[in-house]
Amino acid sequence: MLADRKILVGATGGIAAYKTPFLVRQLVEKKASVRVVMTEAAGNFVTPLVLETLSGNPVSSELFPRQFASTHHIELARWPDLIVVAPATADFIGRVANGLAPDLLCNVLLVATSTVLLAPAMNTEMWFHSQVQENCAKLEKLGYEFIGPEEGKLATASEGEGMGRMSEPDTIVKRIEEIFSERELLKGKRIVVTGGRTEEAIDPVRYLSNRSSGKMGAALARAAARMGAQVSFVHGRMSVEPPQNTDNFLVLTAEEMQKKLLELYAKSDAVIMAAAVSDFRAEKVSREKIRRKEHLTLELVPNPDILAGLGKSKKKQKLVGFALEAGGGLGNGKKKLEEKNLDMLVLNRADEPDAGFDVDTNRVTLFFPSGKKEEVPLASKDEVARVILRKLAKLL
Ligand SMILES: Cc1cc2nc3c(=O)[nH]c(=O)nc-3n(C[C@H](O)[C@H](O)[C@H](O)COP(=O)(O)O)c2cc1C
Repeated sequence: MLADRKILVGATGGIAAYKTPFLVRQLVEKKASVRVVMTEAAGNFVTPLVLETLSGNPVSSELFPRQFASTHHIELARWPDLIVVAPATADFIGRVANGLAPDLLCNVLLVATSTVLLAPAMNTEMWFHSQVQENCAKLEKLGYEFIGPEEGKLATASEGEGMGRMSEPDTIVKRIEEIFSERELLKGKRIVVTGGRTEEAIDPVRYLSNRSSGKMGAALARAAARMGAQVSFVHGRMSVEPPQNTDNFLVLTAEEMQKKLLELYAKSDAVIMAAAVSDFRAEKVSREKIRRKEHLTLELVPNPDILAGLGKSKKKQKLVGFALEAGGGLGNGKKKLEEKNLDMLVLNRADEPDAGFDVDTNRVTLFFPSGKKEEVPLASKDEVARVILRKLAKLL
């Protein structure tokens, strides 16, 4: 499965570096060519000799080695089809997020153009530290891929169980195989993804909106681009940054979103509507700030049903809709799919703490015109996005 793939494994100074040899071994068993770069701190947890023996190649760790040419870091960066850093420490993540390069591995990442997969591993408090989270969000936006960390047993008995454990080597290998097999899944396809929330003005300072963060839409747009699609991401306001590998269009209202989609629709192969579009807007937008009073009645009129409109004028395009339901909504999935002439409907639940709005995970049910229904168990929004796109690729 990984035959002829060139994989550079980076190891940094965390306890989980004791698992890096297992990762190297599995990659080599799958016939990948493996070279290892380790930080100085990693040498406290695993020896170069182990990694050298298992990879069958010399291990690099010095930025100024005597035995190689001075541009060793450039040669190393140009070599791989994929770089995986496992474990990735908080310190390393911080250096990369800030474009710093005091060591060989950071230099390699600054030069490399291949996919970089980071497997963070650290203590729970460290992982949830706002600076670490910010660094990861920044790297994600820059196109770095992440795997884990996961919940589980941490390094010491005093830490017990918690978030921060590095994904197991076989999980990382599986993800690497997926990355290679999915790289060209949507090649040549033009995909429009919507995300975020719309805002409908009431007066110059107030608007009607909802709690959508845009995380699901951004995950879909990012993943579709990674699978080779040319992605237009039409998004309202979001609590996250839009990806960098997509064409991004910020729209504020449902009508603006509809206009932009109609512009892109004819040339697109698929539209995925993950945006949370306001169903209503104010009938009249006050030109001045509405003053405080005893009672205020707002007259609302319905916004256009963008998805149903696209469904009606659909030609070759495949249409994927999202629906958010609280309580007994499953029955509505099939109905919505038919009413809007969709090729897939993704039903999220609004009444579960770890799914739907704002959180990083989702649990969805997919509906298809054949009547087939598929449950996608709780997973990160990135993983849910990949499941949806794999299904879509089969329809295109
Ligand atoms: C015993 C020990 C275990 C450590 N484990 C981790 C860890 O699991 N994750 C982490 O982010 N840092 C960990 N650190 C801190 C890093 O080793 C330290 O931040 C170092 O500067 C990382 O360097 P590097 O990123 O260049 O490898 C640990 C430190 C010690 C002393």
